[in-house]
Amino acid sequence: MASDNPVITIDGPAASGKGTLATRLSKKFGFHILDSGLLYRIAAFVATQDGISMSDGDAIAELLDERVQFWVNEQPDRSANLDSYRVYIHKSFEQPAYVTVNDHNLSATLRNEHFSKSASIVAEEPQVREKLIPIQRSFSQPPGLVADGRDMGSVVFQDAQVKIFLEAPANIRARRRYEQLLSAGESPNLADIEDELVRRDERDRTRTVAPLVKAADAKVIDTTELSIEATVKVAGEYVEQKLSGLSSR
Ligand code: DC
Repeated sequence: MASDNPVITIDGPAASGKGTLATRLSKKFGFHILDSGLLYRIAAFVATQDGISMSDGDAIAELLDERVQFWVNEQPDRSANLDSYRVYIHKSFEQPAYVTVNDHNLSATLRNEHFSKSASIVAEEPQVREKLIPIQRSFSQPPGLVADGRDMGSVVFQDAQVKIFLEAPANIRARRRYEQLLSAGESPNLADIEDELVRRDERDRTRTVAPLVKAADAKVIDTTELSIEATVKVAGEYVEQKLSGLSSR
């Protein structure tokens, strides 16, 4: 990975603000963005459509290999095999990535709590993780990439020039998610959100392959007392400092 094509990784538990920070940093530095969780959500979706169990790693990996095609910011080839899933991901600074599968807009559906849980179960399967690695790495293009997830700094982009790990207690993260859902017009239950978040964290931290872990060289930002603006400021200054160190070498 050349230093003129830097990668910034942002890892951390569910609802720790990774997506918001990644979007803001990609905008600030004009870098591409990878929401790696979305790929696990897509894997869960196509497996569901095909009637495959979320814990059948071999069958999901085979499906991804043989019948799922990804297009990023490029219109899918509709003459492709009708028996396959055409996944189209459109990334922009302004919004979470827009995603369609066989022309159906799944941007909201894939981000619901059902797919949060299914994605976390699918993500325990080593064969599935392996299939998604080259797709994730293909997002690393000039002038640079901001990648958010659980294993961005520890596995997928081990050589990343800047690594950030976001932390906040589960009750604080649950409250933030609750307020997001409230303002989206839903009627969430705070206790249920916290329970599900704790269960998902546990699964993500204890799986055998690529668990959620802070990379040794990641900077930890504890956002318990930080607003979004304050988090962006702290992280942005850290990224600037690291990137200027690279260009002055
Ligand atoms: O970031 P997210 O909430 O959209 O991720 C959904 C699930 O996908 C998460 O609970 C675990 C899995 N995931 C993963 O295992 N590795 C990643 N790099 C990103 C997500």
